[in-house]
Amino acid sequence: MNVERTVSANEPWGSARAAESLNELAYLERATAHVLAGWIPRIPDLGAKVELGQRLYQAIDRATRLSARRDGLTRAKATELDVPRGCQVVMRHVDSAPDSTVLASALTRVVWPGLIELYRLHLASTDPLGDAESVRLLSGLLPGVSSALEKVAEAAPRQGTTSAESSFLEEAGALWKSRTQGPPLPFDDSLWAPLSRVPAAARPPGLERCEPGSLGILAVDSVREPEDVGRFLHSDLDEEYTTMELMARNSYEHPDMPWQFHLDMARQVSDEARHALMMEELLRARGFQHGDFPVSTSSYDGLYQFGPCEPGSRKELLWRMLIRQTFMEGLALDSLAHDVKRRAGTGQDDIVRALDYILRDEVFHVRSGMRWSAFLLGDDRRALLQERYEAMTWQTGAAEEMRARFAENNLEKAMAELEILEEGNRRRGGKPPDRPLNRIGRLQAGLDEDDILQVLSWGDATEAPSEPSGK
Ligand SMILES: [Fe+2]
Ligand SMILES: [Fe+2]
Repeated sequence: MNVERTVSANEPWGSARAAESLNELAYLERATAHVLAGWIPRIPDLGAKVELGQRLYQAIDRATRLSARRDGLTRAKATELDVPRGCQVVMRHVDSAPDSTVLASALTRVVWPGLIELYRLHLASTDPLGDAESVRLLSGLLPGVSSALEKVAEAAPRQGTTSAESSFLEEAGALWKSRTQGPPLPFDDSLWAPLSRVPAAARPPGLERCEPGSLGILAVDSVREPEDVGRFLHSDLDEEYTTMELMARNSYEHPDMPWQFHLDMARQVSDEARHALMMEELLRARGFQHGDFPVSTSSYDGLYQFGPCEPGSRKELLWRMLIRQTFMEGLALDSLAHDVKRRAGTGQDDIVRALDYILRDEVFHVRSGMRWSAFLLGDDRRALLQERYEAMTWQTGAAEEMRARFAENNLEKAMAELEILEEGNRRRGGKPPDRPLNRIGRLQAGLDEDDILQVLSWGDATEAPSEPSGK
């Protein structure tokens, strides 16, 4: 059954029409962020992936501001505005693009031009005094949509239109036009369930990959040996890409989580995209680029699903956050702070500056992981410790099994890896690499003494010697 909207296109621009317009804009921006969140790991081109990662956060940020203004306009009457199913239908269609090139075309030829038109219509039609607050808001937001359109068109160049692509875009255009049709859906229930699972992160074809079970890219001295500095940056870059991808899917696969959860995930996606740009630049400055060493997607592929968790479940989401954000990024708080110190005075000011900035963002990432893990566990901190223990035990077991298989089938390679580790230890005077605990950073990130005791008991970080007091 198709039902026309209560506010028709001919209605004069009073507060009701303005609120409807803001509601539509907010939904379309939110749904665009949802589509992008699902697609980030599926885009092989790394430039386009990173660009869209940043656009995802901008879209949900605009949706947040638009919703706040809409709520301001509906307040006196306490009206809850719905979303016509037609809006969901067009955005879900865009999400069903057959590949990332067609997705980029749908965004740059249908969604963003359509959104720009809607922003402009509101600006041109609304009461400039009565609705001055919306005018101020929309004028500020519109350039962001225009630049998304331009930048993504640039980052994802089209190689001629196939007939399948043309018909997909034609349908998208027709659905956009009929988006005000269909029965009303409550705004909070107007996104859609994931269209597919994405257990492996896409990369450009032809890149050499780290073998599963191998120790990845190993460096003997990542502070003093120029090629090892390149290896260090290259490994870090892979971590930025994969964390961006995992956080994006966390949002997409759980549309029923609170709005703030999606904002936090999107902010992290954007942070990781920015970190990737920083790492790419540091590599370039040293004559390297991504792909010069074997690339790894294990921090996405290995943390996407877990044997004991039902695919797509909240337990799976919880385990991803506990392992990636609260454990691995917790360790990053330690190692980044340590790295900033030990690289000072080695002529690597650009790396020190980048790592120092990344360290600040990491506090937010761990804090977000703690907040939303606790949310899923009804704020039960004992349960969080126990769940982290179970997730890590399972994960470590799975990694050890994979390692054993690799060593069995690649004995020589496994031996060569151990020799590199040994050589590293020799250069450090017989000591394994240390990772002094960054207690202040951890506490600021919302980890407590029990979380700290847990990581110390696992031996992944060591209690840092206390700083000399100066007395
Ligand atoms: Fe990062
Ligand atoms: Fe991070």
